Amino acid sequence: HFSKRLIIVSNRLPFQLIKKNNQLEIKESDGGLVSALQSYFQNTSSGKTAFEATLWIGSAEFNEANWDRLDKQRLEHLAYSVDPVFVDKKVYNKYYNGFCNATLWPLFHYFPSFVEFDNETFKAYEEINRQFADRILSLLMPGDVLWIHDYQLMLLPGMIRESRPEATIGFFLHIPFPSFEVFRLLHRPWKEKIVQGLLGADLIGFHTHEYVQHFLTTVQMVKGYDHQFRSIMLPDRLLKAEMFPLGIDFEKFHAGAHLPEVVEQQRIIENSFPDKKIIFSVDRLDYTKGVTHRLLGFERFLELHPEWREKVIFILVVVPSRQIISKYNERKKLIEEEIGRINGKYSTLGWQPIIYRYNSLSFHELVAMYLSADVGLITPLRDGMNLVAKEYLASRIDRGVLILSELAGAANELSEALLVNPMDRDEVANTILQALRMPEELQLQKIELLQKRLKEYTVNHWLADFLRQLEDTKLLQHTQR
Ligand code: UDP
Ligand code: G6P
Repeated sequence: HFSKRLIIVSNRLPFQLIKKNNQLEIKESDGGLVSALQSYFQNTSSGKTAFEATLWIGSAEFNEANWDRLDKQRLEHLAYSVDPVFVDKKVYNKYYNGFCNATLWPLFHYFPSFVEFDNETFKAYEEINRQFADRILSLLMPGDVLWIHDYQLMLLPGMIRESRPEATIGFFLHIPFPSFEVFRLLHRPWKEKIVQGLLGADLIGFHTHEYVQHFLTTVQMVKGYDHQFRSIMLPDRLLKAEMFPLGIDFEKFHAGAHLPEVVEQQRIIENSFPDKKIIFSVDRLDYTKGVTHRLLGFERFLELHPEWREKVIFILVVVPSRQIISKYNERKKLIEEEIGRINGKYSTLGWQPIIYRYNSLSFHELVAMYLSADVGLITPLRDGMNLVAKEYLASRIDRGVLILSELAGAANELSEALLVNPMDRDEVANTILQALRMPEELQLQKIELLQKRLKEYTVNHWLADFLRQLEDTKLLQHTQR
């Protein structure tokens, strides 16, 4: 019997369990990976996909007893079933706060000085990947399509391949794949194991052409395998590496503008700041997002263009993330210090330049913010893609200007946005001025072009495109035998 199941595997499940008043509650997870896969499922009833069933496997930060106690009613309407991998808390912490987010994350985002090198955390990384592999192997059937996501699980494709040489395995990396000159800083056995792990896949997807090239070069340098037309001929199999720039659910954001809850939130925001231009940003709390540099750019703008003081406000939303890791904790302090300093320097009795919120936003609040913002100021120092930039554009129903870092993967597709070097505070300041002064006609023209592009490659296209190419790769392997 051949099944037609899609098995999605990611470290983060689409929700977390939290305890509130001694009751277990479900909270949606934050971040681009979950929001992409989630929005795909939200508007695709399982009948419409080519799969008979979809299963989502992820690590559970809650224990098995809590999972069993949970009233599963809220999960029943989902287009997929959820299969948590219950992990040992101590090992998980070393894996998640250690190798994943204190080694791989900073390295792959070009922060080598932030990287911690610790054999213990690599061991935990292997252990958790192994635990995922065991779980998957216990339920994998011929015909299943396995799609593994992101840097937390790079050893997994290889572990599955070892036991199931015939399996169909796709892998997608949601963060940048760095230049070999950076990747090579990993200790020798780690980098060999990671490359070997990735080579277990049939198809590996990246957001940009550049990341694909970096990966191919890395494979060449670490393993000596050549590539041609983004294909590598492994001893047992052909492997493909391709670009699939992640898109968003355009309609969900575009239509969001008309939801009564959004209209109401937008009214509240706009009434709170009458006659002010609003600049907006939202990011997870992460040093890669460039928030402190952004604040300095905004400060320079206020310094150079005093005529704009009291006429503009910057609403800065930061979503809590990875709080235990010291570099994240430090960043929070730095951001808050900067905000305090700048507000202290420029506030008047009736005006405060920066409004800061440290919390996650509901979908309605998020769209209302996107709609109220004259300027979206998205300036990561590095970002695999950056969906917030795309969501801001999709939510606009009239004019609006996006200022976007040229170091975000999204910049490749959004060339009509105002692209900036996020490190250059004068450039950021000048670009804010340019955005505020941009004629309405030009804003509309740009928005129209950008929205057209976002509609052409949504998250649904991304998913279908990846799965089609995975199938094609399998066919190609068979014809080559
Ligand atoms: N987002 C969220 N909670 C919030 C605010 C935003 O989950 O309170 C979503 C946002 O809509 C976007 C994602 O988080 O889809 C962030 O993705 P992005 O690619 O910009 O960055 P990442 O967090 O993945 O690094
Ligand atoms: C990025 C990563 C995802 C991750 C998300 C949120 O988008 O690519 O893999 O899920 O950030 O981070 P967290 O550590 O909370 O899962």
